[in-house]
Amino acid sequence: MSKPAWAGGSPASIGPVRLLSQPIETARLTLRSFTPGDFDDLYAYQSRPDVARFLYWPPRDRGQVRRALREQCQETSLDAEGDWLTFAVVWREAGRVVGEIGLKLVSREDRLGEIGFVFHPDYQGRGLATEAARAMLALGFGPLRWQRIIGCCDARNLASARLMERIGMRLAARHVCGEYVKGEWTDELVYAIPGREWKASRTKGE
Ligand SMILES: CC(C)(COP(=O)(O)OP(=O)(O)OC[C@H]1O[C@@H](n2cnc3c(N)ncnc32)[C@H](O)[C@@H]1OP(=O)(O)O)[C@@H](O)C(=O)NCCC(=O)NCCS
Repeated sequence: MSKPAWAGGSPASIGPVRLLSQPIETARLTLRSFTPGDFDDLYAYQSRPDVARFLYWPPRDRGQVRRALREQCQETSLDAEGDWLTFAVVWREAGRVVGEIGLKLVSREDRLGEIGFVFHPDYQGRGLATEAARAMLALGFGPLRWQRIIGCCDARNLASARLMERIGMRLAARHVCGEYVKGEWTDELVYAIPGREWKASRTKGE
């Protein structure tokens, strides 16, 4: 199989615009960049209190979703540390955006990235987030050539913690009262997986 165009570059030179120029296809999902036409699907889950419960932002009204969508449409490159590469997750069977998933460039020097995900409750419990998250690890440890990927969640967010464990991440830290979110101190869990463990699990066929 011939190498994709970006396979030879250094991590710094990989152009995520090119990474997003073609959607990622998994067994059930298409991961693509957001477009302005995704407003209704995005509003359907970003406006829900149960979705926002453990997130930094509150349930969003239409104006806030419009602004978020504008930003998410721009999140197509990992040029600077802190940048997110965000994907709209289309469940092909439903023909709509059922959630979002992304990778953040945390440290270029350490080749460290972070994963984040939000799914509509109507489409949870089917393994769709797991499938999308596995594709993110493949992107991070494949073309982006990261060395380690972390994921953070509120310690009460069991669904998020379970998801990260399912894809092979391990608990690396518990920051007790580590964050002040929505008027209270919360414990933050940090999950992590090094690239070598991800590669080994693929060799074993996990
Ligand atoms: C975190 C979140 C994405 C997890 O969603 P999820 O539906 O639990 O995850 P998946 O889509 O991978 O589904 C996994 C569940 O479906 C089940 N499942 C069914 N078919 C499956 C399959 N083919 N493969 C894997 N799991 C499957 C699993 O057993 C699991 O259920 P369990 O956790 O009760 O054991 C979701 O809860 C969410 O969006 N929450 C709100 C936003 C949020 O908090 N984001 C995280 C911020 S840190």
